[in-house]
Amino acid sequence: MMEIFQQLFGSAEGMRTFRAPGRVNLIGEHTDYNLGFVLPVALDLATTVATAPSRDRMLRIYSQQRQEMRQWKVEELAELAPAHDWSDYPAGVARELILAGFPIQPANLLIASTVPEGSGLSSSAALEVSSALALLHGRTLNPLELALLCQRAERNFVGMPCGIMDQYISVFGRRNCAVEIDCRSQGHRLVDLPAGITFVAVNTMVKHALASSAYRERVAECAAAVAGIGQRFRGVESLRDVSPEQLAAVEPQLMETVARRARHVVTEDDRVGRFVEASAAGDLRQMGQLMLDSHASLRDDYEVSCEELDFLVQAATAIDGVYGSRMTGGGFGGCTVTLLRADSAKAFAAKIVDAYRDRFDVTPAVYACQPSDGAGAL
Ligand code: GLA
Repeated sequence: MMEIFQQLFGSAEGMRTFRAPGRVNLIGEHTDYNLGFVLPVALDLATTVATAPSRDRMLRIYSQQRQEMRQWKVEELAELAPAHDWSDYPAGVARELILAGFPIQPANLLIASTVPEGSGLSSSAALEVSSALALLHGRTLNPLELALLCQRAERNFVGMPCGIMDQYISVFGRRNCAVEIDCRSQGHRLVDLPAGITFVAVNTMVKHALASSAYRERVAECAAAVAGIGQRFRGVESLRDVSPEQLAAVEPQLMETVARRARHVVTEDDRVGRFVEASAAGDLRQMGQLMLDSHASLRDDYEVSCEELDFLVQAATAIDGVYGSRMTGGGFGGCTVTLLRADSAKAFAAKIVDAYRDRFDVTPAVYACQPSDGAGAL
């Protein structure tokens, strides 16, 4: 990176490098903005940002993937309007840093990433968190504040009403562990995974146009569910507060779609807890079944799956050594995550690639999900 940096900006003097990982979510989908539970792992796929002070008043950011440069006077950053491209992530982070009392110092940034974009493996959060570390310019922010600041950048500047999962796991990921996040308390605990198994992500290579508008719609439908359920039961402030019994009692009064959305969230929260218990007990069958149940719920009740994801889940279950599989991330394309015996991983990859190719004439990318550490300096 040093060489490229030098070529781009003339000098790499004082260069520092930061890394922030993407993630795969094992279970707990569309629960984070309902203040429930999620269970992601940080990946070894990551975004790397190299930075060094610049001699003028400019902030320059070069994306190696896009081969594009953006630049602003540092004084302009507070008033910036979104450009509706990749640069909104680092620019949004710069703006939030300024609002949080961290003026941006003139600097050059070089961004490179191994997190595939639009794949549901959280390339956005990896870009936000690595940019934030670079733009902090040696100043420090506590890890939770860092995650929350990056989430605000995405919500306020990019305009995506996301939950906290992606930024949180990019900061708090831990080697060899999954991280169970309580999205209300914003605390977490590390979850050991059973020996002899592994998780593999398979990329549909599609991202349907629906993804971001449907995400907004789901957020709104969950708010409608809370309003409806809250009329009947006191103290319901989010779907996190709703028990399966309460939901059953009010279901007839809710719009049918809203009731199904709520049912997904309420049952999914419960599945996260049971998955963690099954993992502690080494009950692989149960873990796999919970992943399949999660997928069915996302497909039928939450309606965020698609033909390609459904196909991959179905095809995975027919392959030797597989315990379970589900879509991961926001949905409408992106990846599935599959739990399988570690010694079956190689054969699994070959078989799932063949099956997907036969069906869609597209070669899916396959990623080993080795739980890795969260963001930091290199
Ligand atoms: C996207 C969002 C997350 C989360 C997932 C769905 O990745 O950024 O906050 O809501 O979708 O679980």
